[in-house]
Amino acid sequence: MRIELKGMKHVYPTGDEALKGVDLVIEGTEPVAVIGQNGAGKTTLVKHFNGILRPTSGQVFIDGEDINNRSTAQWSKEVGYVFQNPDDQLFLETVRKEFEFGPKQIGMTQAEIDKQLEFVADICNLKDKLDMHPFDLTGTEKKFCTIGAIIMMNPKAIIFDEPTCGQDVEGNKRLCRIVEALKEKGKLCITISHDMKFVTDNFKRAVVMCKGEVLLDGEIAEVFSKVELLKKSFVSPPPITRVAQGAGLEKTVFSTKAFMEAFEAKRRK
Ligand SMILES: Nc1ncnc2c1ncn2[C@@H]1O[C@H](COP(=O)(O)OP(=O)(O)OP(=O)(O)O)[C@@H](O)[C@H]1O
Ligand SMILES: [Mg+2]
Repeated sequence: MRIELKGMKHVYPTGDEALKGVDLVIEGTEPVAVIGQNGAGKTTLVKHFNGILRPTSGQVFIDGEDINNRSTAQWSKEVGYVFQNPDDQLFLETVRKEFEFGPKQIGMTQAEIDKQLEFVADICNLKDKLDMHPFDLTGTEKKFCTIGAIIMMNPKAIIFDEPTCGQDVEGNKRLCRIVEALKEKGKLCITISHDMKFVTDNFKRAVVMCKGEVLLDGEIAEVFSKVELLKKSFVSPPPITRVAQGAGLEKTVFSTKAFMEAFEAKRRK
């Protein structure tokens, strides 16, 4: 999958200029993290990847096709968007119905649905909760229900909007396994997150949004080495990275092991 944005702007009907001209290409299957402070334009950006929002000006192409050529329902087969707030997405009375709704809408056969449901219930750890009402699930389970419902449609790309929000350590590990499993299946995962440890542990590329623009885009180590620019976007690197930067270590590190190696290398110099 290839998502390409050319000079893309988005102005809300209220007059808020949420995106001020974004040029961006995301392609292949390497997961990409989108980061930046509250109100930077992250959600507005990714909602253009399957046509939930349309550009005010500029263009969005999905595998070379202009986003405006198809309806959001049609694009949802290609690119799935998991809402930031589960209550914006869940509306049926059981987890199973939530999982089967989208696939039925796009005409998947019952055999395909059953096969996909087995995979999704397993990676989302909801096998024993399929007949429960989504609103009786815990916050974490609810989030995985929304994630599962989108993976059920087997889209080529999946966007997670703040999946780490409210997650415990176990939830974050599960998310990381889901991102890995989807990559193995040849899917492209794009994830918005405020959890910098989650981002540096699981992603090789980060796009940093700031005030409606892409401030930085590149390899994680490269992005987190730009200390001054990051301050502008109010993104704070993980604690171990900041300690290393404070200690004047040249390498941008994300683990204690890497920190010790860089520290030792500096000491020997
Ligand atoms: N429906 C809307 N109508 C008007 N303005 C909006 C709407 N949604 C977002 N905005 C404005 O657009 C800008 C970008 O918002 P957006 O939700 O894309 O940011 P975000 O980076 O996802 O923030 P957060 O981290 O809080 O989720 C903000 O100034 C916001 O107030
Ligand atoms: Mg948002």
